[in-house]
Amino acid sequence: MFLGRLEFRERKKRRIGILTAGGDAPGLNAVIRGVVKSATLAGYEVIGFCRGYEGLLAPVEYKILDYRNTSGILSQGGTILGTTNKGRFQCTIGEDQRVGVAPELLQQVKKTLSELDVEGLICVGGDGSLTVAQRLFEAGIPVVGVPKTIDNDLSSTVFTFGFDSAVASATDALDRLHTTAASHGRVMILEVMGRHAGWIALHAGIAGGGDVILIPEITWSYEGICRQITARDSMGKNFTLIVVAEGAQLPEGDHVVQEVPPLGGQVRLGGIGHRLAAEIERRLDRECRVVVLGHLQRGGGPTAFDRVLATQFAVHAVQLLSDKKYGQMIAYRPPHIESVRLEDAISKLSRVNPHGPEVRSARALGISLGDDPVSSGCGAPDCESIPGSISMVSVPVFA
Ligand code: F6P
Repeated sequence: MFLGRLEFRERKKRRIGILTAGGDAPGLNAVIRGVVKSATLAGYEVIGFCRGYEGLLAPVEYKILDYRNTSGILSQGGTILGTTNKGRFQCTIGEDQRVGVAPELLQQVKKTLSELDVEGLICVGGDGSLTVAQRLFEAGIPVVGVPKTIDNDLSSTVFTFGFDSAVASATDALDRLHTTAASHGRVMILEVMGRHAGWIALHAGIAGGGDVILIPEITWSYEGICRQITARDSMGKNFTLIVVAEGAQLPEGDHVVQEVPPLGGQVRLGGIGHRLAAEIERRLDRECRVVVLGHLQRGGGPTAFDRVLATQFAVHAVQLLSDKKYGQMIAYRPPHIESVRLEDAISKLSRVNPHGPEVRSARALGISLGDDPVSSGCGAPDCESIPGSISMVSVPVFA
């Protein structure tokens, strides 16, 4: 039977798009697979835009995603769509300078989506990339955000996918450092990522048996660190494991940075581990070694937890698009997966609460946060507790 132009259009599958933006994180492919599977079952065709938002600009780069080309990617690290945190849409918030999206780029995005008949776009990203998503939404583009970052610094969601995998890598590194530190009686310093939040350092430090954990949210001193090393010495423990977040400020208040790019770019943090080692060696005449874990904590496959979280985020993102609930970000608020306004989600970063349950547990174990917990305050007066974050309560047990 001959199909007229109109009938053909009516029979055509509805299309949604997806892109992965910003630094990669384990679980991105699990989201892509989850979106393709659930959207296909719901009757959609999925277009994947390449290299983050860049793929939306001329020359447009995309691929039609289906069961075949997304098969087997659940456990793979990275993203089959590619990503960039250095593109033309640079838009960063938090401690970095906030930059908007140029109007001509917004026009190009609208043109691309309309020409490809894409009725809604899933943007998977961290704070910077989701700020771009919000700018697109403000310009009338139908978007839904999925929170991704190993840093776990997005407020409104208790966990982002990628975080658990990064913590697992950092914990594995600490387990390995533990045996060599103990054998040589050394001070071992592990520098981990996380930007201006100490989540990775704190969780890995607890999970990997760290003796000192230094995070951006708590002001520390060299005296505090040295006190812990000598206290351990006097207990017959002649080695110490220190976990330091790349964004932890020096006692003088400075960040240690690798690179300060021009306006709009993100400062590249890194190097605090070596600064610590030099100072500890000078003060205590102790042998220190430094490991900067770097991108090893971002590469590789996702943990089971991250696969489940990423898959649930994917399913809910498709549902939101199908319900035409745009301008929302998926959020994990145990035990529920919910959605919040993108605008609210990007308005503040989630940082460690210096009086929160993890810090209190660490202190109760004798882990040093590099401060003097009795005489000092938390050192981070502007720290807020995270909406929806899990706190520990005791409940009565009935026989
Ligand atoms: O935001 C994720 C993250 O891995 C941070 O923890 C880190 O500071 C940064 O990205 C590194 O970015 P790049 O890939 O540009 O080195």
